[in-house]
Amino acid sequence: MKNDNSNSRRKFLQQIGATSLVAASSPFASLANQAKAEERILQYDRKITANDKIRIGVIGYGVQGHFDLNTALKVPGVELAGICDLYTGRIDNAKEKYGNDLFTTNNYKDILDRKDIDAVLICTTDVWHARITLDALAKGKHVYCEKPMVYKINEGYPVMAAAKKSGKVLQVGSQRVSSIGYAKAKELLAAGEIGKLNMVNAVYDRQSSIGSWEYTIPKDADAMTTNWDKFIEVTEKMAFDAKKFFWWRAFKEVGTGVAGDLFIHLLSGSHFITNSKGPESIYSTGQLSYWKDGRNLPDVMSGVMQYPDSPEHSAYQLTLQVNFISGTGGQEVIRLVGSEGIIDVIGNNITVKHSLMPEAPGFGGYDSLFTFSKSMQDEMQKEYDAKWTPEQRKRKTKEDIIFKVPAGYDDHLDHFTNFFDSIRTGKKVIEDAEFGFRAAAPALACNDSYFSKKIVHWDPVNLKLK
Ligand SMILES: NC(=O)c1ccc[n+]([C@@H]2O[C@H](COP(=O)([O-])OP(=O)(O)OC[C@H]3O[C@@H](n4cnc5c(N)ncnc54)[C@H](O)[C@@H]3O)[C@@H](O)[C@H]2O)c1
Repeated sequence: MKNDNSNSRRKFLQQIGATSLVAASSPFASLANQAKAEERILQYDRKITANDKIRIGVIGYGVQGHFDLNTALKVPGVELAGICDLYTGRIDNAKEKYGNDLFTTNNYKDILDRKDIDAVLICTTDVWHARITLDALAKGKHVYCEKPMVYKINEGYPVMAAAKKSGKVLQVGSQRVSSIGYAKAKELLAAGEIGKLNMVNAVYDRQSSIGSWEYTIPKDADAMTTNWDKFIEVTEKMAFDAKKFFWWRAFKEVGTGVAGDLFIHLLSGSHFITNSKGPESIYSTGQLSYWKDGRNLPDVMSGVMQYPDSPEHSAYQLTLQVNFISGTGGQEVIRLVGSEGIIDVIGNNITVKHSLMPEAPGFGGYDSLFTFSKSMQDEMQKEYDAKWTPEQRKRKTKEDIIFKVPAGYDDHLDHFTNFFDSIRTGKKVIEDAEFGFRAAAPALACNDSYFSKKIVHWDPVNLKLK
């Protein structure tokens, strides 16, 4: 399939180059590397030659398979070579979209056997990620695997080893880590804009049946049309259940719940910004609050993680929250809290607000001073006045910073551009297997903690459960 999007992408990038990405009210005086995030995107605007052509196969052509494929095809020089899915309706849909000549199959190994396919997008249900990734790498394919990279923590080790051994590119699909907004947050944090980091509060709330995964189930869903026997090859044996096929996220037998679906975005995003290797302890609690539709994973869930002092960052706590029946109407925010301010990452945009402590310690006002004798109050006031100037007693102020990406900016497209650039140039991907696992393991540990009601201890340097 030919891709005709290179011109429009080029135009978009030129437009970004012409208009600064920063719609900020404040000077970035403290940032030596001010234009870094902006430059990062512009470098992708380069000519594609016939040798740069990359042919892809899609494995798992559901909701995200469609989004991933549409986005991948916007990257110049990328062509579709085949689609695999278990449900017959999605194969029909693929043919309707790309024509009857498109290679389709319900067996992903047929895609891997094709010599004309360079890379695969693995967009299946989580429970299949590790198996297909290992088989794809063994067949010499580059892999873009959706998040979470694995369904179980112990699947992470063979995937990391295989990625290393294969010499092929493996990128995990948490597109936020390619966002220029996240890159800007990372720069601002490193530049000390909010002082010393001590907390990250991350929230991903929704308030709709679709948002809570009650996707429409097709009328013809049955064991035959879904290839159920193949679907459960990597799971415990189960009788056909349309919900477990189409609402798989809600069931622990095949899915990873809000932790694998949404905590993972908050974890990969915050790890990218802080450069963290991960937490050392993980606790999670949850409840089935509203969506009592047979699911066995919570619809309201929180996690608390402790990140140790490390060469990458000071010690901080991460709180994670998902509420699927949230009266906020839904929100996604990562708030980084430091000793001198906060960075709010909302979508791809960020704001920085400062709050600086005065140099002088507090004295008087809401204080114990007024409860002392008059003579003691007077004596201490005198000493304080002699020690601290009025200037030292004031809070210093610093302007807010607002960073907005241009309308139409797409972090997903940047993530795919990163992936295909790595295949073409050999540069390191932004979200390799190790990064993917550093986010997946604590997310999956949240489910373990929820079921066991225990704190999970994790060694973030050696990537091992303790
Ligand atoms: N990066 C993101 O923002 C994002 C967003 C949504 C979903 N996802 C991820 O994408 C993946 C798919 O999610 P979805 O919402 O598209 O689910 P979905 O149920 O819509 O699609 C999954 C598809 O995989 C197919 N499938 C399952 N096992 C297969 C196998 N062995 N071989 C071939 N096809 C198989 C199913 O038939 C189904 O069509 C998940 O891992 C999810 O976490 C990522």
